[in-house]
Amino acid sequence: MKIDHLGIATGGIDEALAFWEDALGLEKVHVEEVEDQKVRVAMLPIGESRIELLEPTSDDSPISNFLSKRGGGIHHIAVKVENITESLERLKEAGVRLIDEEPRTGAEGCLVAFVHPKSANGVLLELVQD
Ligand code: CO
Repeated sequence: MKIDHLGIATGGIDEALAFWEDALGLEKVHVEEVEDQKVRVAMLPIGESRIELLEPTSDDSPISNFLSKRGGGIHHIAVKVENITESLERLKEAGVRLIDEEPRTGAEGCLVAFVHPKSANGVLLELVQD
């Protein structure tokens, strides 16, 4: 396993990129809209991991909710797994509370599933399989 990305919530990706891309110097940003999650996403490679900027595309996006409660900031940590179905089975057997019982399609066509923060020390954890 490794950290696939850190998800950061922002009200505006373009303004956020002025920092991460222009000022800090991260390159090769990939931007796409993930309709299923009602977000616009910018992925910025950093070492073998990535920064994922998340901007809501609708008022009922989970990111809108997060921004209104807590403002911008780290929204989730994503761990890359070999086989997401096996990982979910293992977590279920361990009694872990899952947000997604089944994987769904995330950015760049990956399979993703979220683990509830109640089971992960208050951290929203995303599992990702390429
Ligand atoms: Co993510």
